[in-house]
Amino acid sequence: MTALQPRPDKQAPQQSTTQAHKKRLDRVRCELADMGVDGMLVTNLTNVRYLSGFTGSAGLVLLLPDSQHFFSDGRYKEQARIEVPDFQIHIDTGGTNRNAGNPISQIDELGLLAGGDRIAFEADYVSVDTFNTWRSMFGTVQWTESTQLVEQLAMVKDPDELAALVEAVRITDNVFEEIQNDLKPGAVERELAARITFLIRHLGGDGDSFDPIVASGRNSAMPHAQPTDKQLEPGDFVVLDFGAHSGGYCADLTRTVCITTATDKHHEIYQAVLEAQRLGIAAVEANITASQVDAACRDYITTQGYGEQFVHATGHGLGLQVHTPPRLAKGSLDLLKDTMVVTVEPGIYIHGWGGVRIEDDILVGPNGGTPLNHSKKEPLLVLG
Ligand code: GLY
Ligand code: MN
Repeated sequence: MTALQPRPDKQAPQQSTTQAHKKRLDRVRCELADMGVDGMLVTNLTNVRYLSGFTGSAGLVLLLPDSQHFFSDGRYKEQARIEVPDFQIHIDTGGTNRNAGNPISQIDELGLLAGGDRIAFEADYVSVDTFNTWRSMFGTVQWTESTQLVEQLAMVKDPDELAALVEAVRITDNVFEEIQNDLKPGAVERELAARITFLIRHLGGDGDSFDPIVASGRNSAMPHAQPTDKQLEPGDFVVLDFGAHSGGYCADLTRTVCITTATDKHHEIYQAVLEAQRLGIAAVEANITASQVDAACRDYITTQGYGEQFVHATGHGLGLQVHTPPRLAKGSLDLLKDTMVVTVEPGIYIHGWGGVRIEDDILVGPNGGTPLNHSKKEPLLVLG
């Protein structure tokens, strides 16, 4: 195992990028005008972060025609001052009888929704129970359901977001470089997953984008296998799927390697996935539907006789969440646009034997896609 030095130039967490947030808010307000509503209550924390810069675990945003408000509780009093400069900040410090930390009570007390405003809300995240409470609390508001309004705008990345994604991907590539030293017979899936998590933070990440997948031998036939106590054995395929989280943004990388020896069958299946992925990446460009990228991968795998073994979608958008729109899948009508970042990750999974997936993070441009990852994938890595 290599002795690792932490990066000396580890940056402080990104501060609020006020200009970027102003532009995002302008775009949301244009959408709201098109919908014929006066404002919006944003309760999904990822969307709260996208619009305000707030990185904590409890908060909501209320956009009104002439003002914008941020609500949280006393844990975030200081943090909100730093991160949310563009909003009127309302902090519940628990000093009253109200349901402590419930920002809706604060909206009520301030009378912010006492008029007859038409207010959009995120219907895809609000429970029926919560909605019923709002309706009885704010009897004059005309509520309008919206779904994926902020997510649709967030598909196209601004320069700050791209910089954060590039950094998350860079760390992820470095982790793959390091973990190769540990991929040998006898290594245990669960320990390799723990080491990936360690390496992500050690090499500058803020944490995992999602729980790492380390799946070997027949376990690799399960696309989302949980790491087990299984040891790597000669002749195993090992699927490694992980990503660093950095500056709020998520990278997502999959590589498949073989342990000590590879048969013709290993090479045949690996080459089929590699070529499908090459075709998928080559298909990426602005102004095509995401389903066209899926078709490029799927059609090739089908011609190779493994169509039934490609059991998932080809990819997804990346951003503050690891799975965001657009969806690169059969029938997806999502349109790819300049400066989106998407994954291309075809796979073949053979029951009782093993599987292969290869995944890169691709920046969409007007004339094609540019992989942000540089981790080696060709030829098949035989390690140990
Ligand atoms: N890398 C995990 C997934 O995309 O589902
Ligand atoms: Mn993925």
